[in-house]
Amino acid sequence: MIPQSFISDLLNRVDIVDVVGRYVQLKKGGANFMGLCPFHNEKSPSFTVSPTKQFYHCFGCGAHGTSIGFMIEYSGMGFVDAVKELAQNCGMVVPEQDDKIPPAQRAQMQAQSMALSEAMNLAADYYKSQLRSAPNAIGYLKSRGLTGEIAARFALGFAPNGWDNLRSVFPNYEALALVEAGLVIDRVDEEGNHRKRYDRFRERVMFPIRNTKGQVIAFGGRIMEQGEPKYLNSPETPLFSKGHELYGLFEARQAIRDAGYVLVTEGYMDVVALAQMGFPQSVATLGTACTSTHVQKLLRQTDTVIFSFDGDKAGRRAAQRALEACLPHVSDNKTIKFLFLPAEHDPDSYIREYGAPAFEQQVHEAMPLSQFLLRVVSAEHDLSEPEGRARVQFEAKPLLQAMTPSALRLQIVRGLATMTQSSPGEIEQLYELSKPVAEVRRAPQRSSRPQPVGLELQIVRHLVAHPPLAFTIDEAGLGAFTNFGEEAAERLYQLIAAAIALGPQGSFAALAQHLKEQGSEYDGIISEIAAEPESDFDAIKTYLSSAIRQIRTDALKAELAQLFASGLSSSEIGVRYREITAMQDQLLREAEAELSAR
Ligand code: UTP
Ligand code: MN
Repeated sequence: MIPQSFISDLLNRVDIVDVVGRYVQLKKGGANFMGLCPFHNEKSPSFTVSPTKQFYHCFGCGAHGTSIGFMIEYSGMGFVDAVKELAQNCGMVVPEQDDKIPPAQRAQMQAQSMALSEAMNLAADYYKSQLRSAPNAIGYLKSRGLTGEIAARFALGFAPNGWDNLRSVFPNYEALALVEAGLVIDRVDEEGNHRKRYDRFRERVMFPIRNTKGQVIAFGGRIMEQGEPKYLNSPETPLFSKGHELYGLFEARQAIRDAGYVLVTEGYMDVVALAQMGFPQSVATLGTACTSTHVQKLLRQTDTVIFSFDGDKAGRRAAQRALEACLPHVSDNKTIKFLFLPAEHDPDSYIREYGAPAFEQQVHEAMPLSQFLLRVVSAEHDLSEPEGRARVQFEAKPLLQAMTPSALRLQIVRGLATMTQSSPGEIEQLYELSKPVAEVRRAPQRSSRPQPVGLELQIVRHLVAHPPLAFTIDEAGLGAFTNFGEEAAERLYQLIAAAIALGPQGSFAALAQHLKEQGSEYDGIISEIAAEPESDFDAIKTYLSSAIRQIRTDALKAELAQLFASGLSSSEIGVRYREITAMQDQLLREAEAELSAR
């Protein structure tokens, strides 16, 4: 958990114009900066970045957020990574609550990871430069149909023959960072002393693997002749974890947006060949099964994921693993499909043999997840026998239980019911789907709360736009909110508490970021504020106090009317009547005082 106060400080410190400007070309236009929206396809700019609000907003597609939100949406990082990245850029160190790592060690870790990425960069440059003077490696890539342009796009390289070529790159070949980065291997003799160090990658075509920020974090090296292993990969290092990274994601980001989908393959060569043949929206898992983290990462970039699997048995098994990785992330606004190439083909060989249009057709005909799931569970059983149908239900159970409730899950239940001669209700009961796990996880019916309207909506909007307003509301004002009803008052109290937690310098961006992490309840309001011109704090402050007075006056009036209608005697009414009128007088005086102060 990163403390809220740190997020608030960070958003005050970074400048969103710099952050966005690193990726989007921005031009000054009035108070804001404008550019082409990176989140949808457009020819004229409707993407605005406000330096005063520290917020971006697209009038075309509605995308909006803070610097943190931008990093998450644009580069597909998680929240924590986005915060760390921004903090690093402005020299802040992210504190972690219940952080057991002493600061000195933290600094050392940071220095170490810098050393590792520096080493990876130098190595990548070296391999790239070696490719130019390696006719056999160039010949190999050409024989695989690749142009120099594509090789450059993927920064392909070559590790020449020899045991310690990296000596020429690193003045200190014995540096610890080299072994930690996985660039060299230390061989130790039986007594465990005489250590001999040598380059991990020798005589291989090199595929650098980059993270979503574009930093080289690992390599895959392909042998050019027959031999084992065909691909040699970097080991797991502090920079690189196979189960998290996808080859080609950095290079494919823009193309994924343009195409509206990502194509997931199994091999380095598939990604490169597909890019060459007109499918730059391709990525690959790194010789491992597709993990849930992979899927999550992909769904941050696009709503549609199409997996392509080799037509062999291993491909089908891989597809099944991918299906399982996807199930927890299925929702009704996401599309996940599976494409199966004819046996003996991978995307590279297929597109080379049949051409791009044929591959496009395969993409077009990819099998929806629901269909694939039903096929997987029923493939090996005889549906004409009760035992066979029961087995199908048995096999589908963990898959359906892994899904959160959605319209699609219901459709799959229906399909399964038909297939196994049962009713959807029977299946849901059998699988205990009526008690969905996800519902327990979700915050208590926050989203079902009625949206604020009228005066309440105005107050909510102003508080979100100017969080320090929360400090100007006194006890009586807080009490007045109960006139909106209990739920509405509760919402306002939560909002005020969140605004106060940001401190007197709390900004719209910081509060918006906080609210976004809590759910989507305020999305509409945040988006409206982002799209509007900046409002004046003092004017809003006056408005708020008069709005609160208005609520209190209305409430008093209503109470008086009720008092008179109650049929109580005038002496019974008397005490309360005097109290009410005194309060009304007081409110009136306050209003007059405020008017004359202006
Ligand atoms: P494949 O054996 O299908 O290779 O492995 P490929 O991608 O088609 O490569 P080419 O076309 O023969 O050059 C698929 C992926 O599995 C991993 C790599 O990531 C490879 O791209 N792999 C395979 C390894 O890591 N090591 C290996 O020895 C083989
Ligand atoms: Mn291949």
